[in-house]
Amino acid sequence: MIGRLNHVAIAVKDLAASTALYRDTLGARVSQSLPQPEHGVTVVFVELPNTKIELLEPLGADSPIAKFLERNADGGIHHICYEVDDILAARDRLKAQGARVLGSGEPRVGAHGKPVLFLHPKDFLGTLVELEQA
Ligand code: CO
Repeated sequence: MIGRLNHVAIAVKDLAASTALYRDTLGARVSQSLPQPEHGVTVVFVELPNTKIELLEPLGADSPIAKFLERNADGGIHHICYEVDDILAARDRLKAQGARVLGSGEPRVGAHGKPVLFLHPKDFLGTLVELEQA
């Protein structure tokens, strides 16, 4: 059911320093930083040949990654995103198998302008999983 790995998201405290690490130390192609107030983060996209890394820095008072960074002072992998062909069919199949979908259970438009859902990390090996309509 799941398809390509769309991205791995890493929560960071210092986006400028983290971008420099990927650009200068790892030699990756990085985007400008893009504030996304509706998602409570500022994002830098690291473009790799086969996927993307998204560096996420909290934006605003109630950022969804603030608590994660309290627990992970050095930053860390926040979620991984898999593409699915049909997000509603994927959701229904997962729910039928007992997986918990976060929030209302209805897809929201994510950072790439496509419908996304998040799955409870306790159901997926301690990893927050994002599904994005391909
Ligand atoms: Co994501």
